[in-house]
Amino acid sequence: MRIDIISAVPELLTGPLDHSIVGRARKARKVDIVIHDLRQHSTDKHRKVDDYPFGGGAGLVMTPQPVFDCIESLKRERDYDAVIFPTPDAKVLDQQTVNKLSLLGNIIILCGHYKGIDQRIRDELVTVEISIGDYVLSGGELAAMVLVDSMVRLLPGVIGDAESALDDSFQDGLLSAPVYTRPANFRGFSIPEVLASGNHERVRLWREKKALESTREKRPDLYQNFINKK
Ligand code: ADE
Repeated sequence: MRIDIISAVPELLTGPLDHSIVGRARKARKVDIVIHDLRQHSTDKHRKVDDYPFGGGAGLVMTPQPVFDCIESLKRERDYDAVIFPTPDAKVLDQQTVNKLSLLGNIIILCGHYKGIDQRIRDELVTVEISIGDYVLSGGELAAMVLVDSMVRLLPGVIGDAESALDDSFQDGLLSAPVYTRPANFRGFSIPEVLASGNHERVRLWREKKALESTREKRPDLYQNFINKK
């Protein structure tokens, strides 16, 4: 998978994409992530990438020219399966969407900033719009990182234990069961006895029960969906 991220504040993206699972996946060439500084594509003498909104109103709007030039130059190099725009006014990202997106080959993520981006960019270039939740961030960079992290961990060979990503919360529509590690007794707090029993079937049933209980309590909406699908 190749991910091109376009941002007017590329500094925001460098740290988080250099470490942990995503950083290791990049080093192992399981994913290529290339960050593009939008200002480098501006023909304005001050490298401006935003301007006042027509019709008035607060805040600045990202101008079409640098975005069109940047995306067109990328498209001259290779074909892209999606141009994704993180924005709060879109469908909220869920695990199913992440699973689908992680199967794509080349994608562009366009980070918006300021008050928004010129609608013509959305109409002509963007193919997928994604919100990461019903709240407003200052820009698309944090949302882009959420998206990249959630996709990259699903790529083949990125997570050592092949089952681990499939065990994630949401993969079966339920939240995960609690997990414990050593010591079995910490300050008098013991782990559930079944987890040390060595009986895989009992452990599986216990985890299933705990996942159901946790989902029913914390996410009744997911619980109802799960029950209705059964
Ligand atoms: N940009 C600003 N807020 C956002 C959100 N909630 N999701 C995705 N992109 C955003």
